[in-house]
Amino acid sequence: MNRVIWVVFVLLGASPALASDAAQFYAAACATCHGVAGAGDGPVAAGLPIKVAAFTDPAFWAERTDAVVEKAIREGGPAIGKSPLMGAFGASLSKDEMSALLVYLKAFVKPSGPETPPPAKPQASGVERGATEPAGTPDDDPDTTASSGLSANLRPEPNLDAGAALYRTRCAVCHGRRGNGAGPAARGMDPRPRDLVEGVYKLTSTPMGEPAAQADPYRAVTHGMRGTAMPGWNGLPSDDRWQLVYYMESLSPRFADGAGQPFEIPDPPPATAALVAQGEQVYDASGCAACHGADGRGGGVGGAKLVDSNGRRVWPADMTRGWRFKGGSGSVDIYRTLTAGIEGTPMPSYAHLSSEQRWGLVHWIRAQFADADVTLQ
Ligand code: HEC
Ligand code: HEC
Ligand code: HEC
Repeated sequence: MNRVIWVVFVLLGASPALASDAAQFYAAACATCHGVAGAGDGPVAAGLPIKVAAFTDPAFWAERTDAVVEKAIREGGPAIGKSPLMGAFGASLSKDEMSALLVYLKAFVKPSGPETPPPAKPQASGVERGATEPAGTPDDDPDTTASSGLSANLRPEPNLDAGAALYRTRCAVCHGRRGNGAGPAARGMDPRPRDLVEGVYKLTSTPMGEPAAQADPYRAVTHGMRGTAMPGWNGLPSDDRWQLVYYMESLSPRFADGAGQPFEIPDPPPATAALVAQGEQVYDASGCAACHGADGRGGGVGGAKLVDSNGRRVWPADMTRGWRFKGGSGSVDIYRTLTAGIEGTPMPSYAHLSSEQRWGLVHWIRAQFADADVTLQ
């Protein structure tokens, strides 16, 4: 039965790349709860207070439309009146990838008898899976583009008890009860959930080596981290997300003296052909190719065996797939990433380049996007 669906799927011309992305994404982001074979029996399921949906049950699919299933995956359980333990993964899936994932989930159905499930093994190279919304959206979103995040006066007073309670129900399953990144669902995840006690964040707007600004984890929690199991929590009220940020800060000695101060991000200059050409030169001259490859597709020599500060493999980003950038693919997002670097990984800070050189890089990178919406002037 499963095999039949897969054959039909392939014959219909769906991209095999998307199909294997769906398998990898499922294995990384869903299997810990929903089970490798979709039966709702992942290692984490037993510890949850409610039953995890089983995709193997034909009744599951008979009782709801694709649109509802898609909404649950995109916006999280509460969007359809279900539990928040079901996170929102919309930020990690493009429209095509969502369709491929639905096909993948439906292939779990077992109308009768035992059947081999579709392969759902995490793959060694699967760090950059998943992927997401059309390029450009982050630019329209003040949350991702603002250099310092939301203005301070929108932040509620800290209430650590409220933050702790939210953390226990939403986050501990992956990040661990004490925040050390070793929750029951963390097993087999690649990349691993962040160790919040260590407090080294990837997505920052502060100089390399300084602690993240408060707005940084707020952004990560709001949007999730594309291509990883970290869901976006924009279904939670903004006040709750701030309480989570305060609570995470309280877990780590890194923030003992407070959060970091964000650097300024100037307004982006227009993406002229001259600036893009300059960006290409800076890319060549700055050694980006050693990791990201001469063509920017992530196939540099150095990229073959890069590890993070905990000795785990990391893969340099593919410049043609901006929708997978964890820090966002808008101009300001990429400028922030290049300036801050990605702490805990080999991706360095390029704050020493002039602002013009960094904007050149930003515009050159955006011109590489497979779905480039960059207009040259
Ligand atoms: C931390 C555990 C967890 C993870 C990880 C998780 N889910 Fe869920 N999911 C749940 C729980 C619990 C429910 C049941 C919610 C309820 O019944 O209130 C659920 C329900 C669902 C539903 C059914 C919604 C409905 O219509 O009733 C779908 C579809 C779903 N999950 C898809 C996914 C996909 C796809 C992924 C990975 C991208 C995923 N889930 C990751 C826990 C999880
Ligand atoms: C299904 C598992 C899962 C759940 C649930 C989850 N996370 Fe994560 N989280 C991850 C993973 C995996 C990463 C690491 C991604 C990476 O390294 O690229 C991560 C990373 C993070 C980061 C690091 C951001 C950075 O810049 O490095 C923060 C902060 C975070 N999560 C907060 C939360 C909070 C708060 C919650 C609950 C509201 C939560 N997470 C729930 C899996 C999860
Ligand atoms: C020593 C290796 C190395 C060098 C040199 C390097 N990078 Fe990276 N880069 C990485 C790695 C590894 C990642 C992925 C980190 C992760 O996802 O955790 C990355 C990620 C990125 C990302 C995606 C960030 C995101 O939001 O996900 C961009 C954009 C990028 N690099 C641009 C550049 C540019 C431009 C240069 C040169 C000016 C450069 N990198 C030099 C290793 C490198």
